[in-house]
Amino acid sequence: MPTALVTGASRGIGRAIARRLAATHDIVAVARSGDELQALADEIAREGGRCRAIPLDVTDAGAVHAALDGLEVDVLVNNAGIGVLKPFLELTPDEWRRMVDVNFNALFHVTRAVLPGMVAREAGHVVIIGSIAGRSAFVGGTCYAATKHAVMGFAESLMLEVRDAGVKVSVVSPGSVATDFSPPRARDVAWQLLPEDVAESVAHLVATPPGVLVHRLEVRALSPKRPRG
Ligand SMILES: NC(=O)c1ccc[n+]([C@@H]2O[C@H](COP(=O)([O-])OP(=O)(O)OC[C@H]3O[C@@H](n4cnc5c(N)ncnc54)[C@H](OP(=O)(O)O)[C@@H]3O)[C@@H](O)[C@H]2O)c1
Repeated sequence: MPTALVTGASRGIGRAIARRLAATHDIVAVARSGDELQALADEIAREGGRCRAIPLDVTDAGAVHAALDGLEVDVLVNNAGIGVLKPFLELTPDEWRRMVDVNFNALFHVTRAVLPGMVAREAGHVVIIGSIAGRSAFVGGTCYAATKHAVMGFAESLMLEVRDAGVKVSVVSPGSVATDFSPPRARDVAWQLLPEDVAESVAHLVATPPGVLVHRLEVRALSPKRPRG
């Protein structure tokens, strides 16, 4: 069985990705919440899969290095992310720094730990969960949208660097997804994507034939005016 490492697997989109990929991969699940990761690992085991939980703060370069360096993984899903969505003048320096650390700087630590193995084996797939905010702007998104724009530049450059070594790099950019990421406001959000919808797109990318690369995939709910059937 190939192995897939998923960051931010304790809840939301990352948890759904881990559960979906567990049908075809042994899972390495990373996040800070150890209990939630263990619950995920138990759930996957009950369904006949395998999941190793590694409680880890992806912004801690030393801890990532110690836990993940040299780990042999076939698929890396860089999903962990946070969003403090409010006007620039209300953002604290700490909120700004945390968003940049989790959404962008952690890409370096985690990818750096497992990419050399992929290049050496001439196979592997790095998937990054971006956002539609990675190519558009919105009020309250100065830092969040900037980190997701950075993700796009990182991913495309990395893709150009490692494609000839047989390693794929893809970005999945969802629209609004029903998770704890942004609590539902007063408005009706029944139209939102589900975490499982994003997970299905990741599974699709991972299953593309060896010579085929889908580098960017934007996933939207069909229409905010049409609640899901
Ligand atoms: N929800 C949306 O509408 C939406 C839309 C487009 C893109 N996205 C992107 O999708 C990704 C997942 O978002 P989500 O909606 O699933 O959010 P979520 O439900 O809040 O989950 C975020 C995950 O990231 C993990 N995480 C946060 N900081 C971490 C850290 N320092 N170290 C390790 N793990 C950390 C959390 O685990 P712990 O707290 O246990 O560490 C959690 O598992 C993010 O990159 C987000 O930008 C979300």
